[in-house]
Parts: sequence; structure tokens; C-alpha cells
Amino acid sequence: MSKNLQQVLPIVPQNGGDQLSEYALQLLRMRHPESPVDDILHEMEVMAEQQNVPIIGPLEGAIIQLLAEIHGNSAKHVLDIGTAIGYSAIWLARGLPADCRIISIEIDPERARIAKEFIARAGFANQVEVLEGDVFELMSQINQKFDIIFQDVIKHVYFGASSQLSLNLLDFCIEHLRDGGLLLGDNVFCMGEVLHDQAEKLPEQVIGIQAYNTRVATHPLLDSITLPVRDGLWVSRKRLER
Ligand SMILES: C[S@@+](CC[C@H](N)C(=O)[O-])C[C@H]1O[C@@H](n2cnc3c(N)ncnc32)[C@H](O)[C@@H]1O
Repeated sequence: MSKNLQQVLPIVPQNGGDQLSEYALQLLRMRHPESPVDDILHEMEVMAEQQNVPIIGPLEGAIIQLLAEIHGNSAKHVLDIGTAIGYSAIWLARGLPADCRIISIEIDPERARIAKEFIARAGFANQVEVLEGDVFELMSQINQKFDIIFQDVIKHVYFGASSQLSLNLLDFCIEHLRDGGLLLGDNVFCMGEVLHDQAEKLPEQVIGIQAYNTRVATHPLLDSITLPVRDGLWVSRKRLER
């Protein structure tokens, strides 16, 4: 990953960083029987912590797995935008039927390489395809519809260049989501900075996220709610044609 990009990235603590999140995590650990995939996810959490890789962490991970499961066996195509080291892709894959294919997009070649290794070790190499490249360039080549899209690049430097980019990505996601499909998005809160008219940290990025949030909240094709877990998770459903 380029130095430039790394410098502007705030790292949100994986576990939310407060006592109630910690308690919620303890409850989660009681519920989940340990499996080899849990061990791999834990290894990824440690690596991400040590190497400052921003990943969603176990609470959000378990939420997206459960949402994928609730979505049911009908899910056949899923898009995971912002692979990092493959952590969210593995949580999603755990919640989806074996014949569901996940495309996961990552701009950083080294992260994409590590992601492929973890995904293979977790047993999902046949289900998850890691596409290396810039989502803004790959967009025009993606012509299919998805049942679930997890959009996790919204806090990045690209949106500093123009808040329009965050809206372009949102438009792409909505257009490529099938009716009734799920759109998930991380970092609604941008570490609390969204509350400030003039954010102290990363003001241009915050403007991009605020524009994205307002568009999701008001979009006529979406029913949306923010889950205030960790840095905020958008959960939206594309309305069915009436
Ligand atoms: C927050 S991380 C994703 C974390 C991942 N969803 C998880 O929780 O395991 C965002 C990732 O998006 C990648 N990224 C940033 N801009 C991108 C772009 N324009 N196209 C593709 N990937 C991008 C970054 O390199 C980073 O690894």
C-alpha cells in the first residue's frame, strides 16, 4: 500500500473500544463454538492489529455473517468492496450457501495476495474470487447483479478528492443490487467526525462520508438503518418493484 494512502487512514479499533462492546464480544464468544475458521479469523485479527490493517473486527463480522444467513439460500452472487486481507470476505462466506460466489475487490496487491492465502486456508478458495484493482476502474467491467454488496472503502483518500466519488460508488452499488438485495456499508460514523460541521480529522473524507450517509438515508430505492456498532454499519435493503 502506498505511503500516501496509509497516512490518511484512521484505524478504527476492531472491538469498538468501549466496555459495552467488550461485553457484547464476550457474549458472542459464548455463542460461537470454536472452529478452525475461528482460529484463522483470530490470526487475521492479530495480524491486522500489528500491521495497522483496517478490518471490521469480530462483532461486525458476526453481524454480516448473520445478515447473509438471514438473506437465505437464494444468495448466489455477493460483492465485497475493499478486501484488505480477506477478513470480511471470510465472514460473509461463512454465512452463505456453498454455491454462492463472492467477488472481493482490493487495490493493494500485497493485501490481495495475503487475502487469497487466508481465504484458501479457511476453505473458501472456490467461493471467493479476489479481484486486484481499483474499484472505480473495475466498475465498468462488472455487469452482473448481486444479492449482497458490502461496501467498505468509503473512508479512503479517494473521497477526499471529491465527495462525488462516494456518491458514484453508491450509485454503482444500487444499480448492481438486485431488488430485495442487501447493501452493507462500514464507517458511517467516521470515528465520530460525522457529527462535526467542520471535522478536525480528514475534513474532505468526512464530507464524502456525510454525503454518502445522507444519500443512503434518503434514497428512494433503499430502506436503510444504521447499526451503531463499532464505527457504524449501514444496513440497507433495495426495495422490491411494486
Ligand atoms: C477498510 S479496508 C477493508 C476491510 C475489509 N472489508 C475487512 O473488514 O476485512 C479497505 C480496503 O479497501 C482498499 N481500497 C481502498 N481504495 C480502494 C479502491 N479504490 N479500490 C479497491 N480497493 C480499495 C484498501 O486498500 C483497504 O485494504
